[in-house]
Amino acid sequence: MKVLFIGDIVGSIGRKALEEVLPRLKQKYFPDIIIANGENAAGGRGITRKIANHFFDLGVHGITMGNHTWDNKEIFDFIDDEKRLVRPANFPAGTPGRGFSVIKNRSKELVIINLQGRTFLPPIDCPFEKADEILEQLNHKNILVDFHAEATSEKIAMGWHLDGKVSVVLGTHTHVQTNDNQILPNGTAYVTDIGMVGPKEGVLGMERTAVLRKFKTALPVRFTPAEGKWQFHGSVIHIDDATGLAKKIELVRLAEDEVIFE
Ligand SMILES: [Fe+2]
Ligand SMILES: [Fe+2]
Repeated sequence: MKVLFIGDIVGSIGRKALEEVLPRLKQKYFPDIIIANGENAAGGRGITRKIANHFFDLGVHGITMGNHTWDNKEIFDFIDDEKRLVRPANFPAGTPGRGFSVIKNRSKELVIINLQGRTFLPPIDCPFEKADEILEQLNHKNILVDFHAEATSEKIAMGWHLDGKVSVVLGTHTHVQTNDNQILPNGTAYVTDIGMVGPKEGVLGMERTAVLRKFKTALPVRFTPAEGKWQFHGSVIHIDDATGLAKKIELVRLAEDEVIFE
């Protein structure tokens, strides 16, 4: 199967980029399953029911989240009922929602697991132990792990930890795409960070003068998504359905006015 994974979608510019690019990516790659990270979809903070439904209407089959999961309080109204959305699995027991889910489209099935790193992020349960615990419960071959983490070392370590046990480990959260996409020795596709979908001319999607003010003054500053042109980062992963191991991992990196679709 072919899986299209789309990096953190940031605010209205990110949603606009998704509307413009996704139909063309579908034509180019014919993905069986499309997953997107939605933790920044609502004005940079969290996601709403309406935005999640809009993603599903555009053809997204599953949504992963991260440290911004709870920023928009609307999520508490639908997270328990929405099986197509996962939040980090290693939040404490009793946290609303689910950390993994089986996503189906036509005859294809993909398990998506969301985990969050603990380095330079709030302390939560161990993502490595949680990954093992989930894999013990599963009887599926095709498995995607979105490891939402800050430190490149923690992400690379997770790649090694899960090599041969899942189809793909990909990183989100930094909003900067890395070019270390590869197949690890035991057959798991890996990339440290997918990048983001949203404003290109800000700082990680946020309006740049506010971010600069924060760095220069150390005063509290409220960040809002930047305006202007978009960038679109993602990845296409080719999985051998018989083994659940990856055959190929490609990066998608597009920018408004620079896009050439074949
Ligand atoms: Fe993000
Ligand atoms: Fe994040």
